[in-house]
Amino acid sequence: MNHLDLAVLGGGNMGRALIGGLLRQGMRPERLTVGEREPAAREALQREFGLTAAADNAAAVRGASVVVLAVKPQNVAEVLGPLAGELAHKRPLVLSVAAGVRVAALRHWCGPQVPVMRAMPNRPALVGAGVTGLYAPADIGPAHVNLAEQVMRSVGEVVRLDSEEALDVVTALSGSGPAYFFLLAELLAQAGTELGLSAPAARTLSVATLHGAGVLAHSGIAELAQLRAEVTSKGGTTEAALSIFEAAGLGRIVARAVQAAAARSRELAEQFHPA
Ligand SMILES: NC(=O)c1ccc[n+]([C@@H]2O[C@H](COP(=O)([O-])OP(=O)(O)OC[C@H]3O[C@@H](n4cnc5c(N)ncnc54)[C@H](OP(=O)(O)O)[C@@H]3O)[C@@H](O)[C@H]2O)c1
Repeated sequence: MNHLDLAVLGGGNMGRALIGGLLRQGMRPERLTVGEREPAAREALQREFGLTAAADNAAAVRGASVVVLAVKPQNVAEVLGPLAGELAHKRPLVLSVAAGVRVAALRHWCGPQVPVMRAMPNRPALVGAGVTGLYAPADIGPAHVNLAEQVMRSVGEVVRLDSEEALDVVTALSGSGPAYFFLLAELLAQAGTELGLSAPAARTLSVATLHGAGVLAHSGIAELAQLRAEVTSKGGTTEAALSIFEAAGLGRIVARAVQAAAARSRELAEQFHPA
């Protein structure tokens, strides 16, 4: 990545995560510029990462080959609108992580000639353990797709998608997904305390189990169903618990929950259409 300049617009949670990830990957700070409107945030970014933080987004994107858009969806239009001239002139790759802002809207604000892509990372990106759904419209060349993938790999894994609609499903699955696992961990800890454990002990047991199960699943040594089967002896304790989940229709509940999140993602995206 050290052969090109990259600008990040929005130095909040996700912008900072990406900057930290890119620097950890060996990108030199002088190759990175961030556009951030908050003076205290600019100062912190410069101090912590040793890069240039500009109040003026046009100055931040000048000379950049890749512009990562990491402002809130409701701020995308106000950020891109004034940059249209600069972007049309240099045509950097604009990679947006803004949830629900469609390619058509990005093109509307950037100008039709500017290559745009969308990425949907998730919260664990903040600790380098994220997963991103990446979508490139058909007119984006492989060099740009690879560049975008490299950027998002700095904060975790990347799954390439072949349709923009799939991003709503990614949002429902891995975007919101951390909250589903946090909820289950909370409920497990709560059940543990109800059965007599102290709250700190129940929390440690629950969170360490969440982490350990994640590491084991992620190691790829076996499929999820096999890993589950290996913990579930016939007539044993796990089987007793899983039969309760099954009787309550957990599979259907999860499917309905993810469907509701995907539907909400599609609904929210309607708000970010250009007028
Ligand atoms: N955080 C996540 O887990 C996550 C996951 C997936 C996708 N995303 C996407 O990532 C994007 C950023 O989310 P976030 O959580 O990082 O939000 P955030 O912490 O609010 O960061 C956005 C930053 O952009 C700044 N900003 C707003 N308008 C600006 C402008 N005109 N020029 C320059 N900077 C401006 C904000 O400043 P102010 O505070 O002054 O507004 C803020 O510092 C969102 O679109 C979100 O959908 C986030």
